[in-house]
Amino acid sequence: MHRPLIVLVAFTVCLTGSFALTSEIIQPIRRSGDEVALIFIPGAKIQGEAYRKTAVAIQQATNMAVWAALTGNYTFDIPTFFEMKSAVEGAIDGLKKAGMTSTNYVGVAHSLGGVFLSSYAENSPLKAVILMGSYINRGTKLRDYAKPLLTLSGELDGQTRITRIAADYEQLHQDAKQNKTALYRKPVVNIKGLCHAQFASGPMPPKVIEMDLKPDITETQAHAEIGRYVSHFLAVTFSTVQSEVAEAKMQLDNDFMESGTRFQPLLNMKALDRAGNTCPWAQIVQGYLAGKLVSRTIINNVILGEPKFARSKPSLVRVGNRLVISTTTEVKYEWNIFDVSINKESPREISVKMKSREAIEKALGSYPEAEVLMLNKNSIPTCRFMNEQALNLALKNSTIAAQERYKSRGRPLTFKDDIVYGTGIKWLAAPLALDEDDKGLSVQSVGRYEPMSSAAFPGMYYYCKVLSPYRAMEWINVDSLRVHNVTASHL
Ligand SMILES: *[C@@H]1O[C@H](CO)[C@@H](O)[C@H](O)[C@H]1NC(C)=O
Ligand SMILES: *[C@@H]1O[C@H](CO)[C@@H](O)[C@H](O)[C@H]1NC(C)=O
Ligand SMILES: *[C@@H]1O[C@H](CO)[C@@H](O)[C@H](O)[C@H]1NC(C)=O
Ligand SMILES: *[C@@H]1O[C@H](CO)[C@@H](O)[C@H](O)[C@H]1NC(C)=O
Repeated sequence: MHRPLIVLVAFTVCLTGSFALTSEIIQPIRRSGDEVALIFIPGAKIQGEAYRKTAVAIQQATNMAVWAALTGNYTFDIPTFFEMKSAVEGAIDGLKKAGMTSTNYVGVAHSLGGVFLSSYAENSPLKAVILMGSYINRGTKLRDYAKPLLTLSGELDGQTRITRIAADYEQLHQDAKQNKTALYRKPVVNIKGLCHAQFASGPMPPKVIEMDLKPDITETQAHAEIGRYVSHFLAVTFSTVQSEVAEAKMQLDNDFMESGTRFQPLLNMKALDRAGNTCPWAQIVQGYLAGKLVSRTIINNVILGEPKFARSKPSLVRVGNRLVISTTTEVKYEWNIFDVSINKESPREISVKMKSREAIEKALGSYPEAEVLMLNKNSIPTCRFMNEQALNLALKNSTIAAQERYKSRGRPLTFKDDIVYGTGIKWLAAPLALDEDDKGLSVQSVGRYEPMSSAAFPGMYYYCKVLSPYRAMEWINVDSLRVHNVTASHL
């Protein structure tokens, strides 16, 4: 193997003249094949040089003549939108001076660098973009992004969580149904066992060290995997050899399927939060309440926002020998207007207004109330019971590897008995308690039960603020694996 020849190109930004972006040029290790250049943009507080090993691994994985330019020395070591143009143009200058003749420039950005590169790249000399542990802002749909784009994510990336990238994979899945070429133009890949730091090498900033998860693969394996996926994307995007393009398309088809083994279980849980305008999880928990009578019910649900949810009431209508139960739900997310990936992707809580078991029994007239009700009382599910089911479901539907990681080193998710409020107003105001510390996450629901004996609303209401199964799964797959309680408030 040739040692890559390293040339340093310095250029000064005229804007202020006070800072000097530079880039280090790495020559191709082979002269044959189509010429492509990878222009690396680092993550915040990460040196440009930290991507040298990644670049070399990509060179080794492809049949093309791959150049690389490692940009660095950003103001305060933070690449921002304002320096993107000078960084990329400076790198292109350096590549030309070093002897590159084609214009196949690809921006490759890590972490925060990707946030700025992706918005700059749409109108730039870059012909394609590769995001590593990064993503385009939610405001832009994957299919509307103007350039070919490869999104690479790590299964154990503690900073750009897999659940954030699963949302892009979900888009790709939809887009590919319309037109299969989406799989080649906008691939979204998940790399098994890889963490955030492994897109680069060398020392990481404290923020990454704090947030990142323990990887399951070595750095060398990680870079080889990155090289492999990037080679598929580069071949499809730039190769002039038809057989190489055809082969790479097959590889990207595989990559899509293989990544799905990790993304899809998450998306299956996510689908329980919302399907159109209903919350399937709310229908399921109302079903738990109905118990054996569930087979005689039709359970509807509608997701409402404030203030409609506050005013809504569950209702019952008997149709023949069936009962139509209409429930309402509010799905609340944590505030994340800037689309920051260290914030959780799943809902913070799901509030559900349901009908009580007693009300259902009464409406179906199937039981001679008194005695049977007494017997049934203990078996009536609490909100806590529903949360335990959410965890069971999330665990059972996680990959085997994720289940094993959670069981061996995940901080456990535990439950406390419900806090019960006597009025709708108090219930509405109290959030689902999610208390995280270094030992784990404790969940406590708030409920409102109106017993049959209630003077005002006899047995009419059964309200719960429950845990989203997707939140449980996100905990199992991401947050539980950190040793400490770290949250977005550290941002
Ligand atoms: C950043 O600047 C230093 C000092 O001039 C230089 O040694 C280094 O190679 C530069 N890094 C990059 C990635 O250009
Ligand atoms: C799919 O997309 C490609 C690239 O955008 C386009 O060339 C092709 O015509 C599309 N195919 C269909 C069936 O729409
Ligand atoms: C969860 O896994 C079970 C099998 O273990 C499967 O039947 C079920 O459909 C899965 N649920 C979801 C929502 O993916
Ligand atoms: C965990 O972190 C959150 C957010 O910083 C904080 O509010 C909470 O008090 C912490 N929990 C403990 C037990 O320290």
